[in-house]
Amino acid sequence: MKVTDNIYNVGVNDREIDLFEGQYWVENGMSYNSYLVCDEKVAVFDTVDKGFGEEWLGNIAGILGDKTPDYLIVQHMEPDHSANIDKFMDKYPEAKIVSSAKAFVMIKQFFGTDYPERQIVVGEGDTLSLGSRDLTFVTAPMVHWPEVIVTYDSLSKTLFSADGFGKFGTTDADEEWDCEARRYYFGIVGKFGAQVQALLKKASALDIQRICPLHGPVLSENLGHYLGLYDTWSSYKPESEGVMIAYTSVYGNTAHAVDLLAQELEALGCPKVAVSNLARCDMAEAVEDAFRYDRIVLATTTYNGGIFPFMNEFIHHLTERNYQNRTVGIIENGTWAAMAEKNIKKMLENSKNLTFTEAGVHIKSAVSAENAEEIKALAKELMSK
Ligand SMILES: Cc1cc2nc3c(=O)[nH]c(=O)nc-3n(C[C@H](O)[C@H](O)[C@H](O)COP(=O)(O)O)c2cc1C
Ligand SMILES: [Fe+2]
Ligand SMILES: [Fe+2]
Repeated sequence: MKVTDNIYNVGVNDREIDLFEGQYWVENGMSYNSYLVCDEKVAVFDTVDKGFGEEWLGNIAGILGDKTPDYLIVQHMEPDHSANIDKFMDKYPEAKIVSSAKAFVMIKQFFGTDYPERQIVVGEGDTLSLGSRDLTFVTAPMVHWPEVIVTYDSLSKTLFSADGFGKFGTTDADEEWDCEARRYYFGIVGKFGAQVQALLKKASALDIQRICPLHGPVLSENLGHYLGLYDTWSSYKPESEGVMIAYTSVYGNTAHAVDLLAQELEALGCPKVAVSNLARCDMAEAVEDAFRYDRIVLATTTYNGGIFPFMNEFIHHLTERNYQNRTVGIIENGTWAAMAEKNIKKMLENSKNLTFTEAGVHIKSAVSAENAEEIKALAKELMSK
């Protein structure tokens, strides 16, 4: 697939995969992109996932014909991109690997050799000339492994961004970029906001007209939109106004309180109320919504003195990703000794800049008339934020 003059995506679409990275449901599959840059010298950016080596090598040969690549640029060593390094090196014995020192350590761990005679080690700001263009390497540690580099091509003004600006779904999936890129971002990179900010700062010094990520479509129009979203996400700022309500309920009483709250919020004109039943929804989608909206309500049953397992898991996902800068309301339920609110606050005690609502909802088994008033007060307070 041609990207622009002399740049091709020779990657593959995986339509069979259901769980990416062992935990993210991908209804529309996944793409493992790989880019071929044809200049006086020929460079290939990254390989593809394990099952697709032959298809990928076929894509390269289909464009190059009898020519052979000079360089394999390894930007990221996670196996969805690196699994076919050995196949490539066997097929093209003249080719060299261009990568970071940290990546060569990983190459040796994964393949038993780091190709000592065929290495070009690059670090921050190093360049490689392909003839009419220079490639400049920029380190991007922990976006999202420590060895990651991204690469800028001065001629086509392209940033090869590794996992950054990636998205779930095949390259031809007919779906909105923002939603699946956001779920990907918060699932996979969300913990590393500071590192993404550092990369964005370096990128701001470059004239970028095209972003070529390792997953999802090439971005070449309206780049300010995508860069703006990455800035918002990585600085942990809310993206949209609205209330996310995450809940668990065993027998439906806590769920009933959530319904009442959602109705109240809508009646008060809340721009968006996003409700997730944590036992049934895609957890990554719930995490995405928690980071998207500026307000959240956690509604849960007390469970054996703690909180219900899915809520426990959800809050762990949030704190692990540095959840912060949000307004938080709590609805708790307990039949004999309610502990949910106390447990939730304890779990969030180290999270920065969370504002808990004064209004709380304390249900004893089933929603009482008093609880209905508490719910109204909570809705009002959330709407005043
Ligand atoms: C397995 C189980 C364990 C529970 N453990 C507690 C508990 O330790 N303390 C408590 O006050 N309530 C406990 N409850 C009661 C719930 O917190 C809640 O009041 C009840 O399930 C009704 O709410 P629901 O209809 O939303 O499930 C438990 C309920 C279940 C099903
Ligand atoms: Fe990765
Ligand atoms: Fe990846």
